[in-house]
Amino acid sequence: MSIIGITQDRDHPRAALDAASVREAYRRWAGVYDVVFGGVSAFGRKRAVAAVNLLPGPRVLEVGVGTGLALPLYRPDLDVVGIDLSREMLLKAQEKVGEQALANVHGLLEMDAENMAFASGSFDIAVAMFTASVVPDAKKLFAEMSRVVRPGGHLLFVNHFAAENGFRWWVERSMAPLARVLGWHPDFMIEDLLDPAVTRVESRDPCPPAGLFTLVKVRNAD
Ligand SMILES: C[S@@+](CC[C@H](N)C(=O)[O-])C[C@H]1O[C@@H](n2cnc3c(N)ncnc32)[C@H](O)[C@@H]1O
Repeated sequence: MSIIGITQDRDHPRAALDAASVREAYRRWAGVYDVVFGGVSAFGRKRAVAAVNLLPGPRVLEVGVGTGLALPLYRPDLDVVGIDLSREMLLKAQEKVGEQALANVHGLLEMDAENMAFASGSFDIAVAMFTASVVPDAKKLFAEMSRVVRPGGHLLFVNHFAAENGFRWWVERSMAPLARVLGWHPDFMIEDLLDPAVTRVESRDPCPPAGLFTLVKVRNAD
């Protein structure tokens, strides 16, 4: 059943995010995002971009680029394009590009990651940092990232993945109905993003603080 963008699944009753609720959440977060989230997420972001910088191929897509906190970290010779649903977040990213003269950022586009306008195989690498648990449908995100990256290219994700049991599992399940207010799913599992049985996951590395986030590197099918 769907009521003004909230979908309730009887087996897993959590408030789903739709594009309108993501835009609304990040319209509110844009002004304070760097101060509130910039610190705790900095390690994961640095690790993800360091991994991107070591991979072959210059064409990089950052999905859910947000306020552009990662943009100054890319190698200067890369060709970086960022997309996001939120105009307000993109405007913050644009400010950073201007202030820091980031000549390797060749585009910041308002675009839905679940339905991208890029031709198949347009990029060597696509990276989504703290975005997989925010998009309305993470499996569609994965499929689209896989489509726009060339065969044999790489998909990287850094994200919080929910605990499988214990106290943290209980807290995350309890917070799940707040997804629309938070702008992300606290109970997000890696299986919500990809099927480990058929996906070539090259590495899964916990990141500080306290392994709260995980960097996942996937090799696109040849
Ligand atoms: C938690 S923020 C992460 C921002 C940035 N990656 C970072 O490291 O700080 C999630 C971002 O994903 C964007 N987003 C959510 N759903 C999206 C979608 N379907 N398409 C594009 N961007 C989306 C949000 O607007 C928001 O800017």
